[in-house]
Amino acid sequence: MKKIATALSVMLIAATPFAAQATPDDDLTAFRSYFTKKFPEVPMNDYINGVYALDAGAREQWEAFEEFPSYEIAVDNGEGKFHKKFANGKGYADCFPNYKKGIKQNYPYFDTDSGKVVTMEAAINTCRTDNGEKKLKWKKGAITEIGAYLTSLSRGHKTSVKVPNDAKAIAAYNRGKKHFYAKRGQLNMACADCHYYYSGSKIRADLLSPALGQTTGFPVYRNKWAGMGTLHRRYGGCNKQVRAKPFKAQSDEYNALEYFHTYMSNGLEINGPSQRK
Ligand code: HEC
Repeated sequence: MKKIATALSVMLIAATPFAAQATPDDDLTAFRSYFTKKFPEVPMNDYINGVYALDAGAREQWEAFEEFPSYEIAVDNGEGKFHKKFANGKGYADCFPNYKKGIKQNYPYFDTDSGKVVTMEAAINTCRTDNGEKKLKWKKGAITEIGAYLTSLSRGHKTSVKVPNDAKAIAAYNRGKKHFYAKRGQLNMACADCHYYYSGSKIRADLLSPALGQTTGFPVYRNKWAGMGTLHRRYGGCNKQVRAKPFKAQSDEYNALEYFHTYMSNGLEINGPSQRK
């Protein structure tokens, strides 16, 4: 892979556009039109299916898996955990009064009071600590089950991330954007190299999915993990692929990346939890 990767990055060095002045909306328009030109045959809402939007053979296999999805048990467990009361008699429903209507599409959001990006996982753990409970681990386990349950209630809702006109919010968005386009690791590759410029190409046996729509299916059950994982678990894996040191799940860096990355999928339907190789 190193050889391919080096060849790719040499070709790409001159090609990274980075207009610091662009607004999130300008970015979204440019991002989207890049993909619609590159894959004119892919309907916009099919981007939520990752590589399966591009590869008919793999899609058939995946659809067969989805008939008896491995994440279903996570949704059931999550439902049980969500409705179990805390020691103080309160529960998650007190923190998420609108959960039945679906809330996942609004995450991550920028909290102007704390000046921070809030992911759904952070909101789950804040709910716990506010009620005197311990935090859950961030990348797998119970947090993905509760996340899977909440996400399942948001299916069909359109991703709706907002960047308020607030200097810190815009800075967080730009930090995420910078991460997406920045080369890193021994292989010197950016998220954008694999999931923007070279989306639709193969790296070893893997077809590279377009970054557009990548966030809608999380949390996912991955065969490789033999379990569920959050988006930040995947970020860490992708950082490691280029031999970069991953950031911590829920670090400001990954929260910013999630903010930009999810904003790019605004308008696309939540279809998580989902199943991947
Ligand atoms: C060396 C190439 C490479 C780089 C660089 C890379 N990835 Fe990936 N990524 C992959 C491969 C291969 C997969 C599995 C196939 C697929 O879904 O694209 C993947 C999968 C993913 C997925 C899961 C998509 C889905 O539909 O489930 C996400 C999300 C993702 N990458 C995000 C990122 C982000 C964000 C970065 C930058 C921090 C990044 N990747 C950097 C190769 C890369």
